[in-house]
Amino acid sequence: MVRIRQHVNPLSPGYEVFRGLRPRLEPGRPVELEVGCADAQFLFERAAVDPDRHYVGVEIREDLVDLVNERARDEGVPVHAVFCQAQLHLPEIFAPASVDRVYVNFPDPWFKRRHHKRRMVDAALAVGLAHVARPGADVFFQSDVWDIALDAMETFERADDAFVNQAGEWTFWRRGNPYGVRSWREANAEATGLPIWRILYRRR
Ligand SMILES: C[S@@+](CC[C@H](N)C(=O)[O-])C[C@H]1O[C@@H](n2cnc3c(N)ncnc32)[C@H](O)[C@@H]1O
Repeated sequence: MVRIRQHVNPLSPGYEVFRGLRPRLEPGRPVELEVGCADAQFLFERAAVDPDRHYVGVEIREDLVDLVNERARDEGVPVHAVFCQAQLHLPEIFAPASVDRVYVNFPDPWFKRRHHKRRMVDAALAVGLAHVARPGADVFFQSDVWDIALDAMETFERADDAFVNQAGEWTFWRRGNPYGVRSWREANAEATGLPIWRILYRRR
């Protein structure tokens, strides 16, 4: 059995250089991206609903990346995981304006104040997403941690007008997850009755 590390520090120098493998993406086939995909449950479920797209999960825990890719190969589904530090490497993985939809599902466990700098949604991630998302692409965020959700909203609202909040400026999305599938953390939060804070942006 493979032992998966629970957390890694994304600020470690070992993550600065991109060492992942770029997936082969067929031109004309829409691409959905999950940032911090872990086991990629969300993407596997999306692929079951609509197998004609590419589903790319980026993830900083290398062991998980290998497991996701093994499962995708075994099941013959268009899910690809890429080992990377998402804040730094999105433009190395995707061509400009080539991603059709972005999910940021329950980004991190770093809700302690001293771990503030390790948060995944920050200005650098927003710049990377603005670069790779095509105009009109949905950028969907959800978290069960209020501080993290509020921080994410501040980041996207201040990201140089690149993203338009679909619920109105500085407003959470209250109409649930519109995509019909659940990430592992989302299913867990729902089962335990935790509130889930969602935000839906569209790339301008
Ligand atoms: C709490 S898990 C949520 C996993 C999944 N999205 C879900 O909702 O079930 C957050 C994931 O993001 C990954 N992660 C955190 N920071 C990252 C970064 N800078 N780049 C890529 N992945 C990151 C973590 O390793 C972890 O697997």
